[in-house]
Amino acid sequence: TRPVVIDTDPGCDDAVALLLALENPALEVVGLTTVHGNAPVADTTRNARAILESVDRTGVPIAAGADRPLNVLLETAEEIHGEGGIRGELPEPTPATQPADVHAARFIVEQARAHDGDLALAAIGPLTNVALAHALEPELPDLLDELIVMGGAAFAQGNATPLAEANFHSDPHAARRVVRDCEPTLVGLDVTTQATVPPARLESLSEDEGRDRDDALAHSIREWLTYYDAARLERYGIESAALHDALAVAGLVDGNVLETESYPLEVGTDGDLARGALVADRNGVTGDEPNGDVALEADYERFRELVAGSLDRFLTV
Ligand code: BDR
Ligand code: CA
Repeated sequence: TRPVVIDTDPGCDDAVALLLALENPALEVVGLTTVHGNAPVADTTRNARAILESVDRTGVPIAAGADRPLNVLLETAEEIHGEGGIRGELPEPTPATQPADVHAARFIVEQARAHDGDLALAAIGPLTNVALAHALEPELPDLLDELIVMGGAAFAQGNATPLAEANFHSDPHAARRVVRDCEPTLVGLDVTTQATVPPARLESLSEDEGRDRDDALAHSIREWLTYYDAARLERYGIESAALHDALAVAGLVDGNVLETESYPLEVGTDGDLARGALVADRNGVTGDEPNGDVALEADYERFRELVAGSLDRFLTV
């Protein structure tokens, strides 16, 4: 099993990504760190705790992190993900998942050191905590086995602005630091927009006989996916929710899910259009060496199998 820390801002697609990681035996989730993003960090932390409790994983440590971006104002996305960051009634967390008395950035560094080059870090929210971790420990990339990031739109259109994906747009300075200095694998809108769960899949979650229909988490998942679906349909005219973050986690579970290409990469930080834009130098005009990988293709069948498998496993009680 691969030890992994997930830095997250749940968030509907984060929630499915967390369930996928927690339920799949290929990964050992050694901690969650939370960040501002889809909602303020107090809300994303509460949501992450509630998810751990719903699947009886209160032993997984959780560390809360940055409550705002490095250098721009906080913007959240409740209009997409629902009030409090996740639509639906998750139970209030208990003291069992009380966050550790350590900042997320420090927690990431400690875990990276403790796992001696074996740790994977999945960053599925704005990159503030990861940038701060790199500021604390500039050797972070060497201490990690892999840094996989849901973020950016190298060749696709953005979702925050025409050029920028939301996680990069939320904290462009952090994204720049991570892209410049941390050798990430970027799982961006180039591949995540198609990472959808077909509506039929939702129906089977709600209608299959033998399911525990009163399970709070099962109800919440249906609500997240249905709501997220509708929000995306209204906003983008695309039917069925793209589970951006879950595709990045699926890439960690199964090395064959993503096909990547290395490029010289840079992130814009300033100005209306450049903010959060991921620029991949495909033509080699900069003469720079590649500093990161961008996912360009994905095996969506395998992805759906992995998501369905992890949702099924705990709904069949
Ligand atoms: C990313 O932005 C957030 O709203 C999602 O959770 C995902 O991490 C997609 O652009
Ligand atoms: Ca997210």
